[in-house]
Amino acid sequence: MKEKTLRLLDTLRRKDRKSVLFVCLGNICRSPAAEGVFRAMVEEAGQQDCWHIDSAGTGRYHIGQLPDNRMRVHARRRGLELTHRCRQVCEADFDDFDIIIPMDADNEANLRRVAPSPEALDKIVPMAEFVDMAMRYDYIPDPYYEGAEGFELVLDLLYSGCSRLLSLLS
Ligand code: 4NP
Repeated sequence: MKEKTLRLLDTLRRKDRKSVLFVCLGNICRSPAAEGVFRAMVEEAGQQDCWHIDSAGTGRYHIGQLPDNRMRVHARRRGLELTHRCRQVCEADFDDFDIIIPMDADNEANLRRVAPSPEALDKIVPMAEFVDMAMRYDYIPDPYYEGAEGFELVLDLLYSGCSRLLSLLS
């Protein structure tokens, strides 16, 4: 992990209230799933009062919609009910959130364009940085044009990444 990421995580660990924004392209598959996975882990750890958790998309195709039905079905099989309503990421998110986590390099590049200042850029940490290296993924692949295995892979990667994220910040 980069030095600046370690510094950000260190600062966050000391805060009583923390906020995280997960970001993908459509905000109907990967990022609402990340939000749901992380929320469930935070609740299981009894830390729900310490966290503000949300997700957003860099695109605007699905604003107001619930997550993709396929993502909801796969998440439900793991006991997660995804009820987020799609929204687009905006400049104010860089004030409102401590850490902003894109799912892939395109999301990261688009987020960097929205960031209002050089300091804001330091809040961006790709999800793959938290995923177990043994899973051999350096991004969370877009499942939108994939079959069931694509959605399962996303969830497996997100469980790994969210678990590490929470342990690094607790
Ligand atoms: P997500 O997946 O970025 O994980 O939400 C996608 C959802 C919709 C589209 C692309 C990716 N789309 O092109 O509509």
